[in-house]
Amino acid sequence: MIIKDNQYYIGPHRVDELCCRFGTPLYVYDAEIIRARIYDVKTEAGVYPKTEFLYAVKANYNPFLIHHIVKKGLGVDAVSPEEVRLGLLCGAKPEQILFTENNATDAQIDEVFDLGVLINVGSLSHLGRFGRAHPGSRVCVRFNPNIGIASHESNITGGADSKFGISFQDVDRVKGLIDQYQLRLVGIHQHIGSGWLRLREPILALDVILDIAKQCDGLEFIDVGGGFGVPYRPKEHRLDMKTLGRQIAKRMEQFCASYGSDVALRFEPGRYIIAEAGHLLTTVSGMKQSISRRTIVGTDTGMHHLVRTAMYGSYHEIVNITNPDGMHQEYDVTGNICECADFFAKNRMLPEVREGDILSIETAGAYGMAMASNYQFRPLPAEVLVDEDRVTEIRPRQTFGTLLAQFGHVSFS
Ligand code: LLP
Repeated sequence: MIIKDNQYYIGPHRVDELCCRFGTPLYVYDAEIIRARIYDVKTEAGVYPKTEFLYAVKANYNPFLIHHIVKKGLGVDAVSPEEVRLGLLCGAKPEQILFTENNATDAQIDEVFDLGVLINVGSLSHLGRFGRAHPGSRVCVRFNPNIGIASHESNITGGADSKFGISFQDVDRVKGLIDQYQLRLVGIHQHIGSGWLRLREPILALDVILDIAKQCDGLEFIDVGGGFGVPYRPKEHRLDMKTLGRQIAKRMEQFCASYGSDVALRFEPGRYIIAEAGHLLTTVSGMKQSISRRTIVGTDTGMHHLVRTAMYGSYHEIVNITNPDGMHQEYDVTGNICECADFFAKNRMLPEVREGDILSIETAGAYGMAMASNYQFRPLPAEVLVDEDRVTEIRPRQTFGTLLAQFGHVSFS
C-alpha cells in the first residue's frame, strides 16, 4: 500500500474507492506483491541450482490466487485431499504436488494416491499401512529433527513433543518398512515451524535431515518445508533469505558430492508468498469509552475473519485509510463478535479514528481468510485481486442465503 496526496492506494487503485465498490469487510490482495515475493524466494532462497518451490496452500486457498502462483512455476504443498484436488484444478500437475498427511485415513491416502500425487507419510504406523496397501510405490517420509522454531509456540512443529513426523532416531525402522514393502523412498521431508526470522534453527535442522539423507539410497529430493517469516511490525527486520539460500546451497552441494547424485531441494513457503499481499479493509462501526476510559474502536469485521490476534496474540499493523493526518491517540481496536478475545490491537497509537473511517489491517493475506469462519452465523467477506489496472472479485461476499444453503433445504412450515 502506498500513500499519495493523502490517499492510500493498492496498486493504482484508491483504497476508499475499492471499499465503495465492493463494500467492507473486504480482503484485497495485490498481485504485484505476490510476484515480488515469488521472485525473492526463487532468486534468494533458490541459490542451489536444483531448487523447487511448493506453495503451501493452507496459507490461502483461494483458487484464483493458487492459479496465479502455480502459473509462476510453483508446485503445491497440500495437507488435505481437498487441497490436492484444488491444486490440480488450479493447474498444478500431480508430480508438482506433495500431500503431507497428518492423521489421514486410509481412504484419504488412497484417494490422493489414485490422483497420482506423492504421499508424504508422517508416522511409522501409516508407513506400514501405506506399504501394505501400495507395495512397490514411491513414497516420501516426514521426519521430526527434534528442532523447532516459529513466531508463536503453537506453530512449532519440530521437537520432542510434536505430533508431526517420524523421530530422527527412527531412520532404521523407516528403512525396514521401506524394504519390507519394497517401497521407493524418493523424498524425505521436515517442517520445523512457521513464521521464523532467524537462520540458526533452520540450518541446524537441515544438518539433521542431510544426516538422515546419507542413510537413504535413491533420494530424488529433500524437502525442508516452509516457515519463512515476514515482518508484521513496522521495525521488524526481514528474513535474511540470501544468507539462508547461500548456506543451504553450500550444504546441499557438499552433500550431493558425497551422495553421488544431484538431489533436488524443496521449500514449501506459504506465508512468505501471500501474507504481505493481503489487506483486510474494515469500516469503523462504533466508538466508545470503557469504564476505565480506554477508547474502544468497533469494526464491521472480527476474529471470525482474522483470528490470528485472538488465537496467537499476533501483531497486525493497522492503518487509518480515511484520516492519515489525524492526531495520534491510543485505541483498542475490536471486532463485532461476542467474545472478549475479539480484538485486533490493544493500546495502539493510530491517527484519530472516527465512526465511518476505513481501517486496513495489514499483512493479512496468510492464514487470514484461510482460517475464517461463520462463527455467530456471520458471512465471510468478499475477496478482490488487484493486478495493476485489473480488479477482480475472486470471491463474492457471503449472504444470508449462501450461509443457509450450507444446511441444504431448510424449511419448517
Ligand atoms: N509445510 C508444512 C508441512 C506446514 O505445516 C506449513 C504450515 C507450511 C509448509 C507453510 O508454512 P509457512 O511458510 O506458511 O510458514 N496459522 C498459523 C500458521 C500455521 C502453519 C501451519 N503449517 C499462523 O497464522 O501463523
